[in-house]
Amino acid sequence: MTQVLTIGVGAELVQRFSAASGGGLVSLGVEALGADPGLLDHLAASPPEMVVLGPGVPLDHAFVISGHVEVAAPTTSVVVIAPSDPDLWMAAMRAGVRDVLSPNATLADVTAVVFRAGELARARREAVAVDPATAATGNRVIVVASPKGGVGKTTVATNLALGLAASGPGSTVLVDLDLQFGDVASALALTPQYSLPDTVHGAASNDPLVLKTFLTRHPSGLSVVAGSDSPAAGDAVTAAEAGRLVETLSREFCYVVIDTAPGLTDHTLTVLEQATDLVLMSSMDVPGVRGLRKELDVLTELHLVPAGRHLVLNGVDSAGALSMEDVEDTIGAPLDLVLPRHNAVPLSTNTGVPLLQAGGKDPVTRGLQTLLQQFLPPAPARRGVFGRRRAGAR
Ligand SMILES: Nc1ncnc2c1ncn2[C@@H]1O[C@H](COP(=O)(O)OP(=O)(O)O)[C@@H](O)[C@H]1O
Ligand SMILES: [Mg+2]
Repeated sequence: MTQVLTIGVGAELVQRFSAASGGGLVSLGVEALGADPGLLDHLAASPPEMVVLGPGVPLDHAFVISGHVEVAAPTTSVVVIAPSDPDLWMAAMRAGVRDVLSPNATLADVTAVVFRAGELARARREAVAVDPATAATGNRVIVVASPKGGVGKTTVATNLALGLAASGPGSTVLVDLDLQFGDVASALALTPQYSLPDTVHGAASNDPLVLKTFLTRHPSGLSVVAGSDSPAAGDAVTAAEAGRLVETLSREFCYVVIDTAPGLTDHTLTVLEQATDLVLMSSMDVPGVRGLRKELDVLTELHLVPAGRHLVLNGVDSAGALSMEDVEDTIGAPLDLVLPRHNAVPLSTNTGVPLLQAGGKDPVTRGLQTLLQQFLPPAPARRGVFGRRRAGAR
């Protein structure tokens, strides 16, 4: 038996759904959509395997409902009854609709759709039942954050991701979680077809395979979830959606690198819950360093500092009045990396060629390589020609 709920579906088709569901059918009129408590509350409490929205529900409304059902009841498939049309089909898929069925569908068509929904619901229930803590994959989720903007988060996140991507094909994804002013795509000279909102809404949000088609590929092999096209589109992405995206990506990629907006936004806090590593950055000035200390204190109180903690000071020049000791005293912890100010960085930002890709010898590139090593597994002592040669050279 498959639990099917139809809304605004004609009597003849309801009969076919009833037969196909094996007696698991509940059929409601469109007025159920305006009822109180809302339909979504009911669905969340006791989700059917399938919700069928009939011609009685206007299509734009059906798409909105589908998006909500995805969030409230992720194991439920939504099917819309509408005449077949490729444009409509695409719009439906992007809204999270699982299938579009013709109003003249035969019993065989209906049975096939109901069967698929039942299978999918079972598969998703099993996936949801896996406790993320016990399903630990050993994959790393690296969050790059800072209390203030303009301190080098995007520079570090893009370079780190690029360096990690070289560890294996399909190993690394970079997520631009600076919702309003994300500039990862520009720092990598990418022209993305899709961006963050596309990956958290619609079909990509509950199917890792579909999700992968929404990622942008850098020539290095790095996958990228580009930032939203506009601040308004970025605002439509909730912290919970960002959290779910990172959870899915962390099952698919060895390394998930996340660039963030300045400060402790809800989104940053949410993804930190899953982080294995935090790269916390500051510039070398009094407000910046104090901000870093505060952010570290707050995160410690919230138990959100992951096991891998990397404190990075960036844009350091000798003209500054602060000494390294002053900085470490204020932060109350040793710095893991200090990157100097260097012209190679703005040049790289402006041309979209990351420093690790350009492979220069400047001190910032060397510093980034040092940081990268902290995330790569230690090289085996003897492995192939290069391993032996290196061992022999020592
Ligand atoms: N070490 C550095 N030396 C010189 N310029 C830097 C350095 N680090 C970053 N910048 C420049 O500062 C600007 C802000 O860097 P970015 O990485 O975008 O910071 P954030 O993401 O924290 O806002 C960019 O134009 C970048 O080229
Ligand atoms: Mg940035």
